Amino acid sequence: MCFDTEVIGNATLYHGDALEILPALQGGFAAVLCDPPYCSGGVTVAEKARDTSSKYQSSEHKGLYPEFAGDARDQRSFLTWSMLWLGRARALAAPGALIAVFSDWRQLPTTTDALQCAGWVWRGIIPWDKTESSRPQKGRYRHQAEFVIWGTNGARPFAGPIAPGAFRMPIPRPKHHMAGKPVALMEGLLMPVEGAVLDPFMGSGTVGLACAARGLPYVGIEFERAYFEIAKARLKQWRSDCPAETT
Ligand SMILES: C[S@@+](CC[C@H](N)C(=O)[O-])C[C@H]1O[C@@H](n2cnc3c(N)ncnc32)[C@H](O)[C@@H]1O
Repeated sequence: MCFDTEVIGNATLYHGDALEILPALQGGFAAVLCDPPYCSGGVTVAEKARDTSSKYQSSEHKGLYPEFAGDARDQRSFLTWSMLWLGRARALAAPGALIAVFSDWRQLPTTTDALQCAGWVWRGIIPWDKTESSRPQKGRYRHQAEFVIWGTNGARPFAGPIAPGAFRMPIPRPKHHMAGKPVALMEGLLMPVEGAVLDPFMGSGTVGLACAARGLPYVGIEFERAYFEIAKARLKQWRSDCPAETT
């Protein structure tokens, strides 16, 4: 099958559906690090079907970012879909490879189920404390944390660098994606990784930038053309800003 692909240094970016592209890739990845759509905005079918900016943006920020794909599934189809992509990603992972998947509080139980159903060994949860940059709620607690569910593809030897088990850093401003994450957070998560990294939900290419900073080969997949182009532009910019790192 032929896919729309861009190679930038040791990063390869694919435009299309991860479920279709994953089976066509070569295996041997040292890690899967990704931030899939959470499908957690809204409770009813009608609320879930709204566009992502209506679900996740306040009215003054609406229109600031392109909409993103895959966020309207109900709970049963989210579980099934998560099992499918997690299984396809595991088929590409080296023995002992790490997986780290972002989730929010609503999807934490479903995502830990899906990870294990797909054959990964679930090993822990890493909180990302977004600091007081997160949305306040009068008379309630802030939604201040997101979570990274991590595991391995079977046994993994106790060897190599030690990475933190929690991160505290603000949401990046300006963001390049409606759900954009800090590059420094991804770099922290990559600390114990030596080898190629697979990211089936690339968004604006944040994991790709962290891989570039670490000199790790990267494969990213993004369904939305607008975000594929943003990721391409960010990686190209990184290469022109850091020519010494790009030989
Ligand atoms: C939460 S966002 C990732 C944001 C990213 N962490 C960043 O900092 O820019 C998830 C991305 O996955 C993409 N996506 C959703 N379903 C997809 C699929 N089946 N295949 C590839 N990409 C998909 C969405 O369009 C969205 O851009």
